[in-house]
Amino acid sequence: MVSLSNHEAAQIPPAMTDAILLIDEPAPYVRRLTLNRPEARNALSSPLLIALAEALEAANDDANIRAIVLTGGAKVFAAGADIKELATRDTVTGLLDARTALWGRIRRFAKPMVAAIDGYALGGGLELAMHADIAVAGPAAQFGLPEINLGFIPGGGGTQRLARIAGQQLAMKLILTGEFIDAKTALAAGLVAEIADDAQLRAVEIAAKIAQKAPLAARLAKELVLAARDTPLETGLAYERKAIAALWGTADFKEGVGAFLEKRKANFAGK
Ligand code: CAA
Repeated sequence: MVSLSNHEAAQIPPAMTDAILLIDEPAPYVRRLTLNRPEARNALSSPLLIALAEALEAANDDANIRAIVLTGGAKVFAAGADIKELATRDTVTGLLDARTALWGRIRRFAKPMVAAIDGYALGGGLELAMHADIAVAGPAAQFGLPEINLGFIPGGGGTQRLARIAGQQLAMKLILTGEFIDAKTALAAGLVAEIADDAQLRAVEIAAKIAQKAPLAARLAKELVLAARDTPLETGLAYERKAIAALWGTADFKEGVGAFLEKRKANFAGK
């Protein structure tokens, strides 16, 4: 289980560890997870996916963490599933694939997640990036689902998520041709929220800003916006009404409104 206190994390210089997932806390209440398999272009091997699922679950359970930054290397965010690991797959191992459950664990992360994407986000790397609530791309980022070049299709939700986020036309083009798109096209398609010269810095800045807001409100806001994709409008609106009523019973609501009326900065406790 990966769980570091702020103090411990501050003592570990990320560049000096050879762990496949680096963990540090670059701002108050913000934990950064950095994919670190540069020799395999951050390919998402099962051990890396397990480390990621565990780290997200630990962050979910940690009241001192309010937002996550997910990132990779300067030239590659992640080059997809580990093709060397995939090479031995067959129909039976495919149907029983433990990775399906791992993607489910990643998907269930309930706090805001901001991704910084520099370089390639391909295959499972793009599928992972699409789990982020807000993605910031570096100017040289490249996005693609090139599984068709290997004789199969995306398996981490790519056919479903890309079509929902970016629409059928772009999804078909990427998935059927294996072509990549650049950061500007990804921005126009809604795959990323913005392009920043220093995507890392900007992602931390965004996460740090979120971490200063009311954590319960942020959590419910994430849940509601994600639900909007699959929920009929009436159902979504009813769900929103119940969520806001729940938030009006929190100490953070009293703090937020009180701070506004008293013309001071709110200090949210997540209660
Ligand atoms: N899995 C395993 N190893 C990988 C890898 C991957 N996805 N991507 C790169 N590597 C390894 C290479 O095999 C190579 O290892 P060796 O040094 O042992 O030969 C090393 O990383 C460096 O690779 P390159 O020389 O190719 O690096 P590059 O900088 O020239 O190119 C790249 C980078 C464009 C990302 C290129 O490596 C590439 O195209 N990688 C494969 C991308 C891909 O096809 N992704 C889809 C994977 S399948 C998937 O994700 C399935 C799913 O949804 C379930």
